[in-house]
Amino acid sequence: MSDNSSPPYAYVGEDDSGYFRTVHGRRLNVLNSVYLLPVDEDEVKRSERHHRLLQFVFRGRNYLGPVREALQFGQQRRILDLGTGGGSWAIAMADEFPRAEVIGIDLAPIQPRMVPSNCTFELCDLDQLPIPYPDNHFDLIHARSMHTGIRDYPRFLKEIARLLRPGGLVLLIEPSLHPVHGSATASASAGGQHGWINLWEAYRTCLGLQGVDITVPERLPELLSATGHFERVVVQDGNIPVGFWPQDENLLTVGQLQWLDYDLFIPALKPLFLSRGMPPSQVDRIITLAQHDLYYPSTCQSTRLHIVYASKSLW
Ligand SMILES: C[S@@+](CC[C@H](N)C(=O)[O-])C[C@H]1O[C@@H](n2cnc3c(N)ncnc32)[C@H](O)[C@@H]1O
Repeated sequence: MSDNSSPPYAYVGEDDSGYFRTVHGRRLNVLNSVYLLPVDEDEVKRSERHHRLLQFVFRGRNYLGPVREALQFGQQRRILDLGTGGGSWAIAMADEFPRAEVIGIDLAPIQPRMVPSNCTFELCDLDQLPIPYPDNHFDLIHARSMHTGIRDYPRFLKEIARLLRPGGLVLLIEPSLHPVHGSATASASAGGQHGWINLWEAYRTCLGLQGVDITVPERLPELLSATGHFERVVVQDGNIPVGFWPQDENLLTVGQLQWLDYDLFIPALKPLFLSRGMPPSQVDRIITLAQHDLYYPSTCQSTRLHIVYASKSLW
């Protein structure tokens, strides 16, 4: 933090074991009981793949929207990455904007220690408010693939509004929890993909039991507008291919990266499923059948990415 208040995180020394617990064979965070995906090497690898995928989707950039404009305001340029994961986005932004101060926040210290000097990482449960920064502090706030760790997303958006300076930019990206096949919806063309569909149904059910609102990705624009603090809300949703079927070179790369992401994602759901009381034999079956559908797809699979950016109102 650049003001004089005490930092919102404990210094993480060489021994970071106190920040993790092992649940059903995977490493999870200790700060928050809602987010039950692992925070371990495989998850860092997965979030790196997702980051790379989005760079292809954004044609070599790290973002969509008027990010440069938002960072050309005044002397101090501050960027906040909420749920930073392995920190790939925060590090890329620190490299691209060397005069900006970039802060990434997460539940667990899974970020690299060697980072650009204008990039720092902090630990904090973003589901516990307030997020410990002053009002109007940041020019750009980014939150990507992390709504499943937030119970009250409208309240989280209000907190983002508090932290952004007037005219500052928020960029939200959340993958859909409803896989789609080609241009048809999953339910309309389930075809031979029952294992895949069942995995996502089980995931949504468990998230609901965790108190997570599973409609958030589809409702990002509506939720942003409902805060009453944002204007110029721009929606840039799009379909993402899964696998090796696209003809277009760029889309093929995106499809391969999404496939690799899902290959790690499927087993990462195990701690969540088991913690919500699903019998181990059922969990194994759901995972095995979903893996079968990923490895031997009977359709050209796609998924959907919800992307929204907006400016904080000046008044
Ligand atoms: C799927 S990863 C995405 C990481 C990164 N945003 C990306 O797009 O590559 C989700 C991350 O959000 C973090 N997260 C989830 N809920 C959180 C919360 N309540 N407070 C802080 N971090 C949270 C998790 O620890 C995890 O590292």
